[in-house]
Amino acid sequence: MSIGGRYNRLLENSEYLFLLNSIKELEGERKYCRHGIEHLLDTARIMYIIKLEENLPYSKDIIYAAALLHDIGRYEQYKDGTPHNKAGERTAKKLLAECGFNSDEVEIICKAISVHRTPADINDRSLGAILYKADKLSRMCFCCNAKDECYWSEELKNRNITL
Ligand SMILES: [Fe+2]
Ligand SMILES: [Fe+2]
Repeated sequence: MSIGGRYNRLLENSEYLFLLNSIKELEGERKYCRHGIEHLLDTARIMYIIKLEENLPYSKDIIYAAALLHDIGRYEQYKDGTPHNKAGERTAKKLLAECGFNSDEVEIICKAISVHRTPADINDRSLGAILYKADKLSRMCFCCNAKDECYWSEELKNRNITL
């Protein structure tokens, strides 16, 4: 029986754990940013800092569920090329229902996952926009060995610690 927010139920969900482990294995030799639990949790915590600093209405349950699921579609992307935001949206819909999220919550979280690769307007405070922002801020370009070969533009790379 999980305690804390409903997002903790993901940690007991066999499909979620399978996908997380598979991504970890598939990214074993990857020199660029990976998409394991560290990245997912960094993203969740940064989203939550943004929520607190900007007094946004999203609950911790919604924020952590979105962050913990946002890159889960990477498994399908590696397997057959499906864009991971699209694959993730589909998988998240099923897993969120299994974790007890209602249809309105599933909709807002899945929408955020589907747009998390699209650069957001600076004033946009939708869940997808703060997921995009936190996802980028979670990357430690300032101490990354692969930064010179990384495809990110120089403006996008984090040169210092913001959050
Ligand atoms: Fe992503
Ligand atoms: Fe990500």
